[in-house]
Amino acid sequence: MDKFIIQGTKKLHGTVTIGGAKNASLALMPATLLASGNYELSNTPELRDVATMSKLLQTMGVTTERAGTTLKVNTFRVNKFEAPYEHVKKMRASIYVLGPLVARYGKARVSLPGGCAWGPRPVNLHLEGLKKLGASIDMESGYIIAKAKRLKGTRISFSVSSVGATGNIAMAAVLAKGTTQIENAAIEPEITNLLQFLVAMGARIHGIGTTTLEIEGVDALHPANCSTIPDRIEAGTMLVAGAMCGGKIIVDKCDPSHLSAVTSRLIDAGAKLTIGESSITIEAPKKITPVNIVTSVYPGFPTDMQAQWISLMSVAHGPSTVIDTIYTDRFKHVPELVRLGAVIELNDNIASIRGVKKLEGAKVMSTDLRASAALILAGLRAEGETEVLRVYHLDRGYESIEKKLTLLGADIKRVAGEEF
Ligand code: UD1
Repeated sequence: MDKFIIQGTKKLHGTVTIGGAKNASLALMPATLLASGNYELSNTPELRDVATMSKLLQTMGVTTERAGTTLKVNTFRVNKFEAPYEHVKKMRASIYVLGPLVARYGKARVSLPGGCAWGPRPVNLHLEGLKKLGASIDMESGYIIAKAKRLKGTRISFSVSSVGATGNIAMAAVLAKGTTQIENAAIEPEITNLLQFLVAMGARIHGIGTTTLEIEGVDALHPANCSTIPDRIEAGTMLVAGAMCGGKIIVDKCDPSHLSAVTSRLIDAGAKLTIGESSITIEAPKKITPVNIVTSVYPGFPTDMQAQWISLMSVAHGPSTVIDTIYTDRFKHVPELVRLGAVIELNDNIASIRGVKKLEGAKVMSTDLRASAALILAGLRAEGETEVLRVYHLDRGYESIEKKLTLLGADIKRVAGEEF
């Protein structure tokens, strides 16, 4: 597994270009199972998770081919309806094939995802929703076996707002007989991107962008093309890098309207932001003002930015708290940040951060995607050399992060191949 070696305290300057949203691509790609034909998904990021989703779809008979940032998908020859453990264990979003397979082919065998490095991640809402739509759900040797002749429209009220369950159930309901109402639907931009793609494929969906969706099932969909929205978490991570490292950077090809929770907190932290139509310029504050955050569903502060915010607050001028209400166990980065000199106390899902004058380079271990991003940020700010081991996780969700940061003036090198 690769590692990164960072020589910290370099000021960042210049422009960084944001890629397509991982979490949108991981929903758009399986949606192509809903109708046979050719698709072009533009602005698809080149990420390990996208490659994993491609491989998973290929095991079902789908072909995928990259032309620049466009992913060409052909679903004419889908002949297997299974998501094997080898793929699902690598990437939980593999569960997204469940809804489309049952809706279009009447059957699916999908490995249960299990937990994450940082805690349990249930799929009960996906399964309960499919059951309500009339599918039979059985468990067999760690696999979900879902079957249905044709799904039937129904009313589903999610007890928790779930991005994945909303996407999965919407993909199932578009081909159901009759109308489905989904209450407490997720309104994350990646879900809107998916729902608009489904509409382009011929689905009838009302209430997109709201928490109540009404989906009139249709007999068949047709292929369509789709542009993937920019990755708001990559953009947010780069903005935090700008705030932490001094200097002034332009985060380009992002959608600032998706980032207001992050940009408003950065302004509170003392950064100077100029927000354009598709770019944000950030000038680092001289002193970082402590800002408390509580993660919540969109448009609240994203849990996927929680780790990076803790890094930022580690060098703030005063104490702050970061509370994660979405994933209460997602704090594996905290002990690693402490190795870099951060002072953080963790009580359940509340991180209390003291704010120190400086961080010092050390060897730290990546544990999951966003934790890894937080360690890179801290390494960029730390004095001396930081080694971030096992950056495998980072490649799942950040496109060439070291190249993008190098272009901004950071000193970060990938050391490939050995077992670290
Ligand atoms: C998606 C994102 C992930 C992000 C998360 C929250 C993708 C591929 N991943 O994950 O990056 O961190 O949204 O914004 O888009 N829950 C249940 N039962 C379920 C499903 C979820 O209880 O069946 C709970 C979860 O434990 C969590 C909350 O719902 O507390 C939100 O999870 P959810 O929105 O489903 O996350 P994912 O779709 O897995």
